[in-house]
Amino acid sequence: RQAELIRIVEVGPRDGLQNEKTSIPVETKIELVNRLAKTGLRTIEAGSFVHPRWVPQMANSSKILEHVLQSPPPSPNPITYQWLLPNSKGLDNFFAAFDASPSTQSTADTGYPTPPPSPATDNGPALNTSSQDPNAMPSSTSGVDAMSQSRSQSQSQSQSPSPTSPPTHEVSIFLAATESFSKTNTNCSIAESLARFSPLISSARARDIRVRAYISVALGCPFEGPDVNPHRVAELAADLLEMGADEISVADTTGMGTAPRTAELLRTLTAAGIKNEDLALHFHDTFGQALLNTTVALEHGIRTFDSAVGGLGGCPYSPGATGNVATEDLVYCLHSLGAQTGVDLEAVSRVGEWIMGELGRPNESRAGKATLAG
Ligand code: HMG
Ligand code: MG
Repeated sequence: RQAELIRIVEVGPRDGLQNEKTSIPVETKIELVNRLAKTGLRTIEAGSFVHPRWVPQMANSSKILEHVLQSPPPSPNPITYQWLLPNSKGLDNFFAAFDASPSTQSTADTGYPTPPPSPATDNGPALNTSSQDPNAMPSSTSGVDAMSQSRSQSQSQSQSPSPTSPPTHEVSIFLAATESFSKTNTNCSIAESLARFSPLISSARARDIRVRAYISVALGCPFEGPDVNPHRVAELAADLLEMGADEISVADTTGMGTAPRTAELLRTLTAAGIKNEDLALHFHDTFGQALLNTTVALEHGIRTFDSAVGGLGGCPYSPGATGNVATEDLVYCLHSLGAQTGVDLEAVSRVGEWIMGELGRPNESRAGKATLAG
């Protein structure tokens, strides 16, 4: 039987770099995006349009957008770039940068390239989490195999993509499941966030831009502790979908999530009528539980996961929280469970080793280090 495709959203260039204290040259950020694009990843969050005083590291994101518009990084599969923003001012800045690019002048009247179809994230057959079917393992992870594998996946997953398809773009917005985190991260209440998002989502959709919405601190808050109300998360997810968001990324910002509470949250979301196909899970790995929680989510039927190459990352407004689950670790885990990701483990491991070297930090991905050592 055919292995299931899991969609990975690579958030390294945004979530991964936003917390770095030393200013990273824009050339390095662009090189990171270029290298990631070659690994078989299909979705990359490449920057954010937030207030530069709040997150100085992301101040040059319009340069990265300009780069991917003018010189789309070569990739074996069509790529969707995500751009994080907190409010309509961020969306205006995104549109301004987009429309200023010579490469979009001809599409400015008609809007953006057609957004990608929704990923195949139905509940589908359960994953072989006991790995009893060795034939379900993805084929070799050599570059050529992975590229042709991801190419054929692309072709079977969507209407018209080809390796030469231009990239598409979507925006991601974020709110919090607790009032204290909302205030700290975006200087407004949860209700104010929702009120901001309604017109923002309409404006984005008017230009055929898909909107992803993160719900932060869904499994633990740095100020209010681990017991975040799952019913509150479900209400927010329902509100955001009702407003027109295309996907909800449920975020364990602090990495406090445990397997039982992840399962409880997912059951609560399902009971509230939220479909698995509308959900992604975004695990930070502060307590080393991210892969365990990933398998809980897989068993529940979730088919989209966020990660950052090298285990980079952290939210500047979540004290003590460390990086996202490493993309290399996630890919290794998913392949071991018989799933396909389209991502070349060795290639993405090389990117992780490279970017951590650039930042002068140890590589946080154990699977990445072991892959390169082996
Ligand atoms: P504020 O100070 O309340 O903003 O910040 P304001 O609305 O009062 O406006 C003040 C000034 O900021 C005005 O300029 C606005 O134009 C300007 P002035 O009139 O004084 O010259 N302004 C902006 N400038 C640039 N870009 C903008 C923007 N908006 C207003 N978008 C604000 C409110 C939301 C802007 C601020 O709190 C902010 O930028 N917060 C972002 C914090 C952030 O980026 N956190 C990290 C990302 S979230 C995350 O990592 C979590 C995630 O990974 C999931 C998870 O793990 O949980 C996604
Ligand atoms: Mg995050």
